[in-house]
Formats: sequence, structure tokens, C-alpha cells
Amino acid sequence: MILLNGKKTSEEIKNEVAQEVLKIKQAGKRLPHLAVIIVGQNGASKTYVAAKEKACQFVGFDSTVIEFPEDIQEKVLLEKIEEINQNPNIDGLLVQFPLPKHISETKITETISPDKDVDGFHPISVGRMSQNLPTFLPATPFGIIELLERYGVETSGKHCVVIGRSNIVGMPMSILMARKAYPGNATVTICHSQTVDLKSITLQADIIIAALGKPEFLTAEMVKEGAVVVDVGITRVESDKTKTGWKLLGDVKFDEVAPKCSYITPVPGGVGPMTIASLLKNTLRAYYLKE
Ligand code: GUN
Repeated sequence: MILLNGKKTSEEIKNEVAQEVLKIKQAGKRLPHLAVIIVGQNGASKTYVAAKEKACQFVGFDSTVIEFPEDIQEKVLLEKIEEINQNPNIDGLLVQFPLPKHISETKITETISPDKDVDGFHPISVGRMSQNLPTFLPATPFGIIELLERYGVETSGKHCVVIGRSNIVGMPMSILMARKAYPGNATVTICHSQTVDLKSITLQADIIIAALGKPEFLTAEMVKEGAVVVDVGITRVESDKTKTGWKLLGDVKFDEVAPKCSYITPVPGGVGPMTIASLLKNTLRAYYLKE
């Protein structure tokens, strides 16, 4: 069993991006700049945004975090996005999700200029991805394909089962794995809450991508010997064995599934850190589109 080490790989990517920024700096040019909008006090969102800002600092990007209160009017948020769209000194923009119920995430997504859509959520980005055209790929699926590529995991002709059909992970992941590309060229099955007899499907999988958000859902009896397992889940659960009183669990029952796998991602230290590395790559891409 080989561990797909996202922490180590993401550090390699961050160092590569930092090297690029150094070249930009040495050429006396403007630095890449990411803007992040956060609304309200969601604890997980605040942690993610802080990690994104820290990663920008590490590679030498400029970054701006714009905070709005929970009760911000949708109109004000849309105006801010329009303003950033027009700002030539900002290359990438993301609005951290989830947003309060009175704000339409669809409207927000569609207002971000596709040239600055470093989250890859805009329908134009998704459409281009579906047609295998150059574009911003959503950070989590982008991080996963990068991890598979850097470890040389074979995907062509393999049966890839994706569990979960979210816009952020499951759907784009299934598109990328089916693309005529490497990683890709897989035969893809998408499973979700209405799937009947999931186990009979996962048992046929050469590659399983678990992205349903249910801690320790995938057990050993659901996995074929030699499978590749990618765990996207990251749920905080109470624990009396840690100092903090909580621990992070993936969607995979790691201890019993890992011995059956050819490759597997750990939680934490697997997919999570790759997501931020992908955001940095997308921001650099946005910068080069302009410069
Ligand atoms: N919330 C959870 N994941 C993401 C992400 O990748 N981008 C944004 N904007 N919000 C998120």
C-alpha cells in the first residue's frame, strides 16, 4: 500500500509556485493577487480563508480578505464583486461558501468574471472543463488529479466510482476522470444518495473517490483488493482521545480499508492540502492570462 501524501506533494507545488513568483519579482513586475470574500462567522470558513491567506503569503502573492457581516444585502456583495472584476490589480477572486440563506450562491458564482474565477465554479469554467478546454479547474478535483499524476497512478481504462455529486467535488471529478487525458480515460460511475446497492458498485471499482461527507462510510467489505482510494471527506467529530476534544475523520474507514489498497489518501494530510495548492496554481494562471 502506498500513501498518497498530499501534504508533501502540496509543499512541492507551493515551492514551484514560489519559484515562479520569485522570477516575476526579479523581473520587476506586479505580483499575482488573490482576493477572498468571506461573509459571516462560520468557523470552518474562517479556518479555510486563513489557510488560503497564509498560503498566498508563503508563495509571495498579494492577498486581500474582505469580510462582510452575516446580514449583508446580496446587492452590496454583488457590487463588491463587480468592483473587483474591474480592478486590474486583482487576478483571482473567490467568495467562500456556504453563504447565508438570503444570498443566492448561483447569482454570486455567475457574477464573478470568468477570467478571475479561480474556484472554477462559473458555468463558463465548468463548460470549458467539460469540453476539455483550458480553464480554471475546481480546487479539490484539480488537487486530486494532480496527486494521481504525481504518483503515476494508472487511470486509463480503469473503472472509477465517484461517491457524491456535488458541484464542488463529485460532478467535476467525474468529468475529469472521464476526459480524454491523463489522469482520465477512466470509465466513470457516479453514485449518490439514491443509488441502489452501492456496495455492489464500489466492489467493481479500480478507483474510488469518496466525497459524500459521511465519516467512515466506506468500509473494507465495500472495496476490491488492490483498489485506489481517494478520501475527500473531512468531518470534525468529538473525541476523548485528543487534547482538543475533537478529531478529523474522512469518508473512509482508513484502518481497515488501507491494507486492501494499492494507493490511499490519509485524512488529514491527503486531499485537503492539495486543494490550497490548486488555488495557488489557478491564481498564477489568472495572473498569466493578464500579464
Ligand atoms: N467551501 C468549501 N469548499 C470551497 C471551495 O473550494 N471554494 C469556496 N469558495 N468555498 C468553499
